[in-house]
Parts: sequence; C-alpha cells; structure tokens
Amino acid sequence: MLEVKDACVSYGKSRVVNGISLKIDGAETFLVLGRNGVGKTTFMKSIIGLLPVDCGSINFDGSDITKSRAYERSQKGIAYVPQGREIIPMLTVKENLQLGAVAHKKVQFEAKMKEILEYFPDLTPHLRRKGGVLSGGQQQQLAIARALMSDPKILILDEPTEGIQPNIVMGIADILKRYQKAKNIPLIIVEQNLHFARRIGDRFMIIQKGRSVKEGSIDELTDEVSAKYISV
Ligand SMILES: Nc1ncnc2c1ncn2[C@@H]1O[C@H](COP(=O)(O)OP(=O)(O)O)[C@@H](O)[C@H]1O
Ligand SMILES: [Mg+2]
Repeated sequence: MLEVKDACVSYGKSRVVNGISLKIDGAETFLVLGRNGVGKTTFMKSIIGLLPVDCGSINFDGSDITKSRAYERSQKGIAYVPQGREIIPMLTVKENLQLGAVAHKKVQFEAKMKEILEYFPDLTPHLRRKGGVLSGGQQQQLAIARALMSDPKILILDEPTEGIQPNIVMGIADILKRYQKAKNIPLIIVEQNLHFARRIGDRFMIIQKGRSVKEGSIDELTDEVSAKYISV
C-alpha cells in the first residue's frame, strides 16, 4: 500500500536522507527509530509531500505520488501528526477538530467528531475550551484526533510521546491500537521512547545519518540493539 524506494532528501546541498526504502502492507505499525538529527522527520515530510525527494519514488495505493502535492496526498488518505503537536492554540478543541475534517461535508462533521471522541474521552469535556489551555498530553490527543477526522488510510505520527507524562504515554498507545484495530490501517510512528515502541510496534527501522542501518520485527528490537543504535 505504501512503498518508498531509495528516497533521498536534501536541504540545499546538504543531503539528509540518503536512499531509504520502506514498504508497508496491511494494518501494521512500523516504527522509525534513531537519535536526534538523523533525518527521521525529514524522511516523514518527504512521504507526506512537505519536502521533495531528489531521488527515489513513493507509491501509495497503486499510484505514483512521488511528485504529488501535500494536499493531494492528504486527499488520498495520508494523514500526519507533526512533531511538537501543532494544534492551533487560539482555536477551541472543536474548531481544531473541524480543521481536520475539511474533506468532510458539514452534515457529517458532528457524527464524525462523535465517533472519534469515543477514542478520546479526555477531550470531550474540553470541546469549547481553547486548545492552548490543554495539558501537553491532551494537546497530543487533540493533534491525533484531528488527523483521524479525515478518515485516513494511513497515519504517520512524528514522536507522539515527546514531552508527554509517562502515565499518558501508554494511554496514547492503547488509543492508537484500538483505532487501528477498528479501521484496519497502517501506522508509521517516529519514536524515541522504547517502552512505547515495544508496546505498539510490529516492525522497526533504525536510521543513522540518513540511512537505514537496521530493520526487523519488534522482538528483534533488543536492549543490545537499542544500546548500539538508539540510546545516547
Ligand atoms: N529546514 C531545515 N534546513 C536545513 N537543515 C535542516 C532543516 N531541518 C532539519 N535540518 C537538518 O537535517 C538533519 C535531520 O533533521 P531531522 O529530520 O529533523 O532529524 P530527526 O527528526 O531525526 O531528529 C539535522 O541535521 C537537521 O539539523
Ligand atoms: Mg524529528
């Protein structure tokens, strides 16, 4: 369903992603791991169309989207929760959710919101409050809920647990797993929290200096592997 072949991405003359490939079929959770600055976010932005690839190709659902614009990829069903949970702080929780539902007709919005909020009971009491007053964990949930409002065929999350309290982190893992089970969609998650990664992942890739240096199924993500490639 999603296949990236030998993608390269550069900022000016500086190549940050150097020939990474990725193939995801069915409702699995694929982890993209690695230390800060190795190119994880850059790679994700090239998949969603925020950055162009300067080599390689990207296929989604049978069509070549290598040169498609970000909004076209989004319309095809690729949803993204950016690093740093970029919700709109001055808009209410409900308005933030509305932003995620632009592809839906207005009549469907309330029903869709109701469906999505069943996964996020923490948000329901705050619908009329400004997003900016929510806790970090609630803002992250809002960012995820907003992405789900578009009924994505694949969801990409960039460090969803960064700066979130440990007791909330596992709650987020469980929400994502429940949603995935209901909708049968793949997830790609950039992550540095190993505990979370092991709870939710099926397969992983570790990136170093813009290249994939290790891939495997989640039980191959041992403490030795983590010590060698991920831990500081
Ligand atoms: N907009 C940008 N312009 C120039 N260099 C950038 C830009 N964004 C990121 N970089 C550089 O690209 C490298 C990879 O960054 P990034 O993809 O954000 O890494 P990660 O997500 O793995 O922490 C880093 O060296 C970073 O400084
Ligand atoms: Mg990043």
